[in-house]
This record gives sequence, structure tokens and C-alpha cells, in this order.
Amino acid sequence: MKVIYPGSFDPITNGHLDIVERCSQKFDKVILAILNNSAKNTLFTVDERLKILESCIEEYDNVEVDTFSGLLVDYAREKGITTVIRGLRAVTDFEYELQMALMNRELDSELDTLFLMSSSQYAFLSSSLVKEVAKYDGDITRFVPKVVEEALHHKMKGDK
Ligand code: COA
Repeated sequence: MKVIYPGSFDPITNGHLDIVERCSQKFDKVILAILNNSAKNTLFTVDERLKILESCIEEYDNVEVDTFSGLLVDYAREKGITTVIRGLRAVTDFEYELQMALMNRELDSELDTLFLMSSSQYAFLSSSLVKEVAKYDGDITRFVPKVVEEALHHKMKGDK
């Protein structure tokens, strides 16, 4: 089975990568799809995120990175994929994720969303929190892969 794991990944964290690793073991093919939304104010450009994600998935033969804009249902249809993966960290994620999953099903009745529970050690992790800790020179080594740590330090230095 082929699946799409979509997100902003601004930046990708070890929590996202935990989901990627588990998906790569369970599914034949995984597309990590970065939302390219010019209206969203992201720290990393889509090209920067693409490069970062590509270096994070080198060890997985069945995972590839792509970008999409517009509706997820249209992208999934274009790829011929009917299953989307999302991670759930806590009950607070549920309402937003439920709304998205139901809206996507309204837009395309073929499209199902499967949820993987985040591993407990990553349940508190978010891209915004990592960016905040990095901004104040906190230690983010446990939360993100090396490539993200370096990219964040580089960005933050540029901002100072
Ligand atoms: N580990 C760590 N963090 C996680 C996580 C996990 N397993 N799962 C989610 N998160 C966090 C992220 O760190 C991020 O944190 P932040 O809010 O602090 O930045 C947040 O959850 C969500 O980010 P992400 O997982 O990158 O996804 P998203 O919510 O930005 O992505 C899309 C949403 C792309 C799936 C959705 O907007 C979409 O499909 N857009 C296309 C347009 C469309 O079709 N719209 C209609 C949809 S109904």
C-alpha cells in the first residue's frame, strides 16, 4: 500500500521522523509531501525544507519527498494514492485532525486518513517549540536531526 504523509515540516522533528520510520516499515511506499503554501509564514523556504527532508530519509528505500500546493485531495488523486497518514500527539490534536480528515472525505470519498499515535517520548514536541528553544540558544539536539539543528542555528544567527 502507498501512503502520503503530508505536513508543513517547518522544520521536521524527531517526532515526525518517528512516524516516517514506522510508516516505512508498514507500507510499501511513503511520500513525505511538503505543503507549499506561500500564504503561510514559514521559517524555512520550501526548497530548504525539501533539501532537509531529503537528507533525513536517505536510509529509507521506500520513502520519497515531494512538494504540493492546493488541496491535498487533488494531490492524492494525481498520485493515485487513497491513504493519508497523520500523527496524533495528544487529545488536543484530535479535533483539528478529525475536521481535516472529514473535510477531505467530503471532498473525495475515496480518501482515508490513518492516524499513528506519536511515540510517548515525542508527544510534547512541536516545530514551533523547537524553533523557540533554538531562538534562545537552548539545546535542541534531542528533538531534531543534526541537519535541522545546523539549519536552525544558521537561520537564527542570520536573524540576530
Ligand atoms: N511529531 C512532532 N510534531 C508533530 C507531529 C509529530 N508526530 N505531528 C504533528 N506535529 C506538529 C508539528 O510539529 C507542527 O507544530 P507547530 O504547529 O508548532 O508548527 C504541527 O503539529 C502541525 O504541523 P505538520 O505536521 O507539519 O502539519 P500541518 O498541520 O502544518 O499540515 C496539512 C497540514 C498540510 C496536512 C494540511 O494543511 C493540508 O492538507 N493542506 C492542504 C490544503 C488542503 O487540502 N486543505 C483542506 C484540508 S481539510
